[in-house]
Amino acid sequence: MSEIYETVERATPAELATLQFQRLKNTLAHAWRNVAPLRRKFERAGVRPEDVGSLADLAKLPFTTKADLRDAYPFGLFAVPREQIIRLHASSGTTGKPTVVGYTRADLDMWAGVMARSIHAAGGRPGDLVHNANGYGMFTGGLGFHYGAERLGCTVIPMSGGQTEKQVQLINDFQPRIICCTPSYLLTLADGFAEQGIDPATTSLKIALAGGEPCTREMRAAIEARMNLDVVECYGLSEIVGPGVAMECLETRDGLTIWEDHFYPEIIDPSTGKVLPDGEFGELVITTLTKEALPMIRYRTRDLTRLLPGTTRPMRRLDKLAGRSDDMLIVRGVNVFPSQIEELILKSPALAPHYVIEVRRPHNMDEIEVRVEMQPEADNETARSQAAAELQHHIKSYIGISARVRVVPAASIERSLGKARRVVDKRPK
Ligand code: DLL
Repeated sequence: MSEIYETVERATPAELATLQFQRLKNTLAHAWRNVAPLRRKFERAGVRPEDVGSLADLAKLPFTTKADLRDAYPFGLFAVPREQIIRLHASSGTTGKPTVVGYTRADLDMWAGVMARSIHAAGGRPGDLVHNANGYGMFTGGLGFHYGAERLGCTVIPMSGGQTEKQVQLINDFQPRIICCTPSYLLTLADGFAEQGIDPATTSLKIALAGGEPCTREMRAAIEARMNLDVVECYGLSEIVGPGVAMECLETRDGLTIWEDHFYPEIIDPSTGKVLPDGEFGELVITTLTKEALPMIRYRTRDLTRLLPGTTRPMRRLDKLAGRSDDMLIVRGVNVFPSQIEELILKSPALAPHYVIEVRRPHNMDEIEVRVEMQPEADNETARSQAAAELQHHIKSYIGISARVRVVPAASIERSLGKARRVVDKRPK
């Protein structure tokens, strides 16, 4: 088993820092030479690549944001001629144009490598049957897991998303040990098994590599209990590479090891941009260290977490992602994350883990309504209004806001086929 570890997974902190700095210098020189909008940004900030004499000096450089990618749509931030790009992906976003990302052959090789490393860390081994229910196509989830699992030596079932009945049939027939999908799709799949008269706890699946969206500890425990498997979390974003930026290790599941030899993390205060010390919560900023087609310098992910020291690997860990700064709701001055509401829903035995949070702003103030399903066994009118009153009370006492709660009949909230749409934002833009 040990021969599957890459040498760098065992590097000392000093060896790692040397490698990171050397790769950072190369990346900065490459980006400066080949990406005009980035060079202009550096010039406006009065910095040049040679001003970066240490990893800490990274803080002198300006951030890159989604707006930079949008302004350069579609290919303006690419650092190599378009002909050298052998794959494009895009993330849809909620409005306007997608964010387009490109990969050279070396980029795809690196990506397959970090995904193989991730699947291995999560307990996958050569020879495993891997059912990949992430969407294939412009979303990075499908092909990202696909090539990583092949690289590790697994047998991949390239099922893609949707067609839940078919997924159930193939899992029954092929008996995979591992499944890859979003956490919310695991819930949909569990329902799919139950609908076909199969107890979801009795399938061949032992490990779920889940990612692409937040999932609270409570939600994870509910999925694990229902499906009798270990959910191991994967983090990534298309702007950086796709899945495979950070992964939990099966033996500890104590946060996600960030593959720092390729993706250099910083945590900043999202309002001031100041770098925060390890251990403090803030926004994750990532600099790619080996990307050719689309080097990203200090990309603001908007994801909120903190950096923790390594445990099973010397590389640092990301604490469980707490949500995105742009998902934060401000209700009468109180900051609220959808994950806090999810936690409370999952604590109520009468409620099912299917919910939607709708936000409006009728009088310049965010108002929220939570619609959540009843567990099918307990579903009647009286039980519903009692559960609604209880949840409303818990939201008020634990989070400090007044939310309207409507408990709706079982199976009435739309099921996720990929990333769940848990917040419906009806506020004026
Ligand atoms: O979701 C890549 C991916 C696919 C990762 C499959 C893991 C598994 P995007 O579509 O660009 O890429 O969305 C990236 O999704 O900035 C986070 O806000 C969120 N996200 C991804 N993984 C996690 C996670 C893919 N484990 C955005 N926990 C990111 C919380 C996550 N949020």
